[in-house]
Amino acid sequence: MNISFKNKTVLVTAGSKGIGLEIAKYFISSGANVCICSRKKKNLNNAKKIFSRISEKSKFLCLQKDISIPKNHPIIIKKIKTKFNKSIDILINNSGGPPAKSVEKTTFKDWNLAISSNLMSGVLLSKLVIKSMKKKKWGRIINLTSTTAKEPADNMALSNVTRAALTSFSKTLSREVAKYGITVNTILTGGCLTDRFYNLLKKSSKNKKDFDINLKKLISLSPMKKIAKPEEFIQLIIFLASENSSYINGSAIPIDGGSSRTIF
Ligand SMILES: NC(=O)c1ccc[n+]([C@@H]2O[C@H](COP(=O)([O-])OP(=O)(O)OC[C@H]3O[C@@H](n4cnc5c(N)ncnc54)[C@H](OP(=O)(O)O)[C@@H]3O)[C@@H](O)[C@H]2O)c1
Repeated sequence: MNISFKNKTVLVTAGSKGIGLEIAKYFISSGANVCICSRKKKNLNNAKKIFSRISEKSKFLCLQKDISIPKNHPIIIKKIKTKFNKSIDILINNSGGPPAKSVEKTTFKDWNLAISSNLMSGVLLSKLVIKSMKKKKWGRIINLTSTTAKEPADNMALSNVTRAALTSFSKTLSREVAKYGITVNTILTGGCLTDRFYNLLKKSSKNKKDFDINLKKLISLSPMKKIAKPEEFIQLIIFLASENSSYINGSAIPIDGGSSRTIF
């Protein structure tokens, strides 16, 4: 199957590290115009260096923008238009993961941040890109949530709730816009070897020895006896963003090596 993103314009939010960065790299190397955003200059500079090795500067844009702040969203869209003279064809709504906490330990501030970062950024950015996608009669919106949307994980209250909400938004929107050639799908993210993965594991481990034991345990519990590296993880996301995935809409697909136990 030949997948090309030549002349496509892509926004990958939270794209300076981990899964987002890997997705952005793929799009850039496949000829797309790509914008990423994240909060920290250091991460963005590192991403810029990586992108410069695969493409010319004219093909990518790295913006220091926090997606949990709604007023940043129209600014991101405007800067993409100015840089590439094109509107967005493919929106990848990725976000940073909220902290691991039990319900009892969460504060009102925690909930507000998780809702604005993991739910509302996807909702508001989707609303902003739909108009031009409708005009073009083509568009792809892919919301990255988590397997916790279906199987709430212990100590992950903020993630469980906001991921389920974005997954439901995704289904709702998919039915509204399908007639305009726009598909909207959700990826239920399972294990992927990124900083987020290692940091959560570190927090639940007492020391380095404990960390190694916990990592081995997690791997042994997974049906495939491995956890994916980002480059293996992103393949389905790339397919969903392509012309080839025209009849896949409103789906919520886990990428977890078969770790989820639910069948629907
Ligand atoms: N990896 C896994 O195993 C796994 C499993 C289930 C779910 N997930 C979810 O998948 C998503 C991506 O995970 P990952 O593993 O790729 O994480 P990661 O390696 O920690 O990368 C997170 C990215 O999000 C950016 N970011 C965080 N908060 C942001 C904000 N408010 N505005 C803009 N950018 C922001 C970070 O950059 P800055 O710090 O510069 O902002 C970074 O580029 C997360 O939501 C995570 O919870 C991951």
